[in-house]
Amino acid sequence: MHIASVGVSKFCFLFSLAFCGLLLLLIPALQPLPRQVDLPKPRPQARPAQVGTSEGLGKPIKTEISRNSYPKTGKGVRRIPERGIGGPQEYRSHDKLELKDIFIAVKTTRKYHKSRLELLIQTWVSQAKEQTFIFTDGDDKELQMRTGANIINTNCSAAHTRQALCCKMSVEYDKFIESQRKWFCHVDDDNYVILPSLLRLLSSYHHSQDVYLGRPSLDHPIEAAERVKSDGSVSVKFWFATGGAGFCISRGLALKMSPWASLGNFISTAEKIRLPDDCTIGYIIEALLEVALTHTHLFHSHLENLQKLPIDTVLEQVTLSYGGFENRRNVVGVVGGFSLAEDPTRFKTVHCLLYPDTEWCPKLKPRHRN
Ligand SMILES: *[C@@H]1O[C@H](CO)[C@@H](O)[C@H](O)[C@H]1NC(C)=O
Repeated sequence: MHIASVGVSKFCFLFSLAFCGLLLLLIPALQPLPRQVDLPKPRPQARPAQVGTSEGLGKPIKTEISRNSYPKTGKGVRRIPERGIGGPQEYRSHDKLELKDIFIAVKTTRKYHKSRLELLIQTWVSQAKEQTFIFTDGDDKELQMRTGANIINTNCSAAHTRQALCCKMSVEYDKFIESQRKWFCHVDDDNYVILPSLLRLLSSYHHSQDVYLGRPSLDHPIEAAERVKSDGSVSVKFWFATGGAGFCISRGLALKMSPWASLGNFISTAEKIRLPDDCTIGYIIEALLEVALTHTHLFHSHLENLQKLPIDTVLEQVTLSYGGFENRRNVVGVVGGFSLAEDPTRFKTVHCLLYPDTEWCPKLKPRHRN
C-alpha cells in the first residue's frame, strides 16, 4: 500500500514534469500569431541602421518587419536606442526620415543676398522651402515676398567678427530647438546641399543618439585652453567640423548642448574659449559632452580643391561649394547644359542633373544625348 502510493505520486510527479515540458515547448509555437498582429508598432531596434540602405524601397522594409520575429533580429542590431525612448509612436516615426524632419540653417549676411542667396533659393532651397531657414543680419522683405523663403533677421551685427558669427549660431540653435525637428544642419551661403544625399546620410543614424557629423577642417584636433570647466591653466584637444562645409547635429545631442548653447549661452561659451562659432560647437560637443565628431568627407567647403572631386561622385556628396572672388576657378567639374560663363559656381548644372524637370533647366533632346 505504502509502496504503491509512492509509485503513484512518483508517476504524478513525472507526468506533471512532462506536461510542463510540453507547455514550454508549445509557448514559442503559440507566440508568433499575436506578435505578428502588433509587430509594426514595437519595432525591432535594428531599423535605424537599415533605413539608410533601403532608401526608396518602402516595400522590402515592410516585409522584413513582418517576417522578423524578435529572436531573429539579432544579426541586424547595430544601434540600439537608449532605454526609455520610444513607444510605438517613436518607433513608427522613424520608419523613414523625411526632409521635413531636418532643419537646415543657412548663414548669410545682407550684402550677399543678391550675389549668393538668390542662387541658393533658385536651386536647392527651392526643393526644401519648408525646412530651410536663412539667418541673416538685415531685413529683405522684397526677397522674402518674391521667393517665399524663410528669412530670419537675427539682429546680429553684420561684421565678420567672432562675436557676430557666434550671435547668428546662437539664434540658429534656439530656432532649431523651437522647431521640434529631428536634425539640425548648418550650412553657409556658398554651399549647395544635395538633399537626397543628406537624407540618406542622416537616415543611417537615429536622431535620439548623440550624432555630430561633419568634415574636420584640420588633420589633427585643435588645442585650446580649458576656460569653461577649469581656469584655463589646462588645455583640451578636440575635433570640430568646419562650418564652411556644413555640419549636422542630432536633436538628442543638441538638447544636451543646451547649458552652453541656448539663449545666449553660446555667445558666452565662445567668449570664454575665444574661438569661432564652428570651433565652439566642436568644443561643446567633444570637450564638454565628450561625444566624438563623426568624420565625413561628404561635406565640402571652398577651402578644398573642388576640382579634385571625381565627377561621377559629385551627386553623391552632401554639400558642395565654390571658390569666391579670390579663386573663381575652384569649382566642381560637372558638365551639363550650362557653360562656365553661364554657371560659374556649377550649382545650376548640379541642380539640373538632380532635378532635370526644373523649368529653367536646358531640356535634353531625347535623341541627342551626349
Ligand atoms: C529682431 O528684431 C525685431 C525687431 O525688434 C524682432 O521683431 C525680431 O524678433 C528680432 N529677431 C530675433 C531673431 O530675435
